[in-house]
Amino acid sequence: MNNKPEFRIVLSAPDMADDLAAIQRACFPKLAEAERITAAHYRAQIARFPEGQMSIIDKSGRPVASSTDLICKMDFEHFEHRYIEAVGNNWLTTHDPTGDWLYGADIGVHPDYRGQGLSRMLYEARQNLIRRLNLKGHVAGGLLSGYGQHSSLPVKEYVDQVVAEKIFDPTLSIQLRRGFKVRGIFNNYVDDPGCQNKAALIVWDNPDYRA
Ligand SMILES: CC(C)(COP(=O)(O)OP(=O)(O)OC[C@H]1O[C@@H](n2cnc3c(N)ncnc32)[C@H](O)[C@@H]1OP(=O)(O)O)[C@@H](O)C(=O)NCCC(=O)NCCS
Repeated sequence: MNNKPEFRIVLSAPDMADDLAAIQRACFPKLAEAERITAAHYRAQIARFPEGQMSIIDKSGRPVASSTDLICKMDFEHFEHRYIEAVGNNWLTTHDPTGDWLYGADIGVHPDYRGQGLSRMLYEARQNLIRRLNLKGHVAGGLLSGYGQHSSLPVKEYVDQVVAEKIFDPTLSIQLRRGFKVRGIFNNYVDDPGCQNKAALIVWDNPDYRA
């Protein structure tokens, strides 16, 4: 349900690519340049898997948030990988229409528009896509954005405390509110000192999935 009538979810379009790249830079200021999604990447992602690329636009039609997804197969026994490999260097060449999981490559809400439920809108739209495509669920590497302030703790303990709601992580806590569960830890997911390169493997199981 869209309880924010001033904002609307749309499929991302090629003419939004420059705005989306600017949002990406604002959302991931410490992420290595080589891992950031550029305007050219956005255009390629839209061409490869249009339904998986969503944006939120304001009343003027300008994007203020977006998400990037691809479809993949998952082996939860051997899940360790790096972000940049999973997303085919951001070109989404890894998108596999015969797969059964939606892989959450990216979500970003421009800093000026946070705390208004926009990520909730995007996560719910992605869950609807998963239901429509009858996929098993949503899987992602949830960046441990707050770990830098708690890096004296072993990362497993940090994640346990976020799950127990003793520590608020600006990214993982929000994802847990959307129904994701932590299934593992990536020690070297991205090149980003903001999260000390670390992420949690997070999974949302589609309750309506039919084998
Ligand atoms: C993580 C991010 C996408 C969240 O976007 P957002 O639009 O501000 O989030 P929302 O407003 O939808 O808030 C989502 C939930 O978190 C809660 N929340 C948000 N900020 C909170 C805070 N400081 N303390 C407690 N709860 C908070 C909201 O109440 C809401 O919960 P509810 O819907 O159950 O009430 C945004 O901060 C962002 O773009 N971060 C940088 C990029 C990033 O890290 N992306 C994720 C990569 S894995």
